[in-house]
Amino acid sequence: MTEKDFIPLPYSHEHSEGKVTYKSPSNIALVKYWGKKEHQIPANPSISFTLDACATTTTIAYKKLENPTPNFSFDLWFEGKPKETFKPKIEIFFKRIEKYLPFLKEYHFVIETSNSFPHSSGIASSASGMSALALCLMHIEKERMPSMEKDFFTKKASFLARLGSGSACRSIEGDLVQWGHHENTVGSSNLYGIKYPYSVHSVFNNYHDTILLVDKGQKKVSSSVGHDLMHQHPFAKNRFVQAHENLTKLRTVFAQGDLKKFIEIVESEALTLHAMMMTSLPYFVLMKPETLQIINKIWDFRASSGANICFTLDAGANVHVLYPAAEKEEIITFIKNELVVYCENGQYICDRIGFGAKKM
Ligand code: DP6
Repeated sequence: MTEKDFIPLPYSHEHSEGKVTYKSPSNIALVKYWGKKEHQIPANPSISFTLDACATTTTIAYKKLENPTPNFSFDLWFEGKPKETFKPKIEIFFKRIEKYLPFLKEYHFVIETSNSFPHSSGIASSASGMSALALCLMHIEKERMPSMEKDFFTKKASFLARLGSGSACRSIEGDLVQWGHHENTVGSSNLYGIKYPYSVHSVFNNYHDTILLVDKGQKKVSSSVGHDLMHQHPFAKNRFVQAHENLTKLRTVFAQGDLKKFIEIVESEALTLHAMMMTSLPYFVLMKPETLQIINKIWDFRASSGANICFTLDAGANVHVLYPAAEKEEIITFIKNELVVYCENGQYICDRIGFGAKKM
């Protein structure tokens, strides 16, 4: 498919008003997306576990305007209060997707959104937020085009979410979602995420992710700035090749349930992401001393216990601790006894693999 396939033909139906709610999860990348081209095209393919507990719920109430306006017409509420500061981001998103949803200026929208996780947790809400918004808008489009197939609906929701925030396209459908063209993955695309199409060993069912909130403050360097710095980056070319190779390796790892190899790839990806940050110009460090303390504790514990525990990081100081459901008791005890002390105010979130967004 190409971008053009997402530009609709004239709609068959009219719809004057309505309301829709979607709950969309966050995701945690195993192979990281870091670096992008124009129009939110990723510089390399990535894959993520969809989360379950960390989610955004968004409701859009929409009403046809008497006359279409030259600007987008919407109100934005966040956790029960008007939130003017979020509006420019939505405005940019609407501008990017208007070509694909030509009805946007015909309606007034009241957007109400809330997160399941505390807002100053340092957890990025762009993936869950943008995917929830994209799904609500797709619902409105489907009302105007009832013959739309489910598969197209899902692809276009992911396509639109990507234009809001790259990683958001991995939060629509599936427990394991791949985004970005990869030579060894059938159906993979730079335009949208797909459900991982190959076999996955049962050891990955219900995989756990305990998120240790090390630093709940605002990030010093945004993801957009970080992605941009990959353009002149001395190691970018090799990094992009490595991401392709890691995805190829993961195919066997997922099929065989090879946790040792899984751990090696996932931790290497996390550290490579941060190594890219540390070696760009300007360079920056998002890890905190506590992040490194946690990593070292995990390594010590793994060496002494043989547990299949590992970590990954996103663009921040928080640590995602990943482990199989079968080892939950032992690992949660370790986390509580030895890692929670490094969390800001002792806060952490127990999450696990989920299956994607839901209409409420
Ligand atoms: C480190 O999706 O937040 O979490 O496309 O600019 O919105 P934009 O970036 P974003 O980048 C996420 C980067 C990451 C890795 C990942 O999720 O793959």
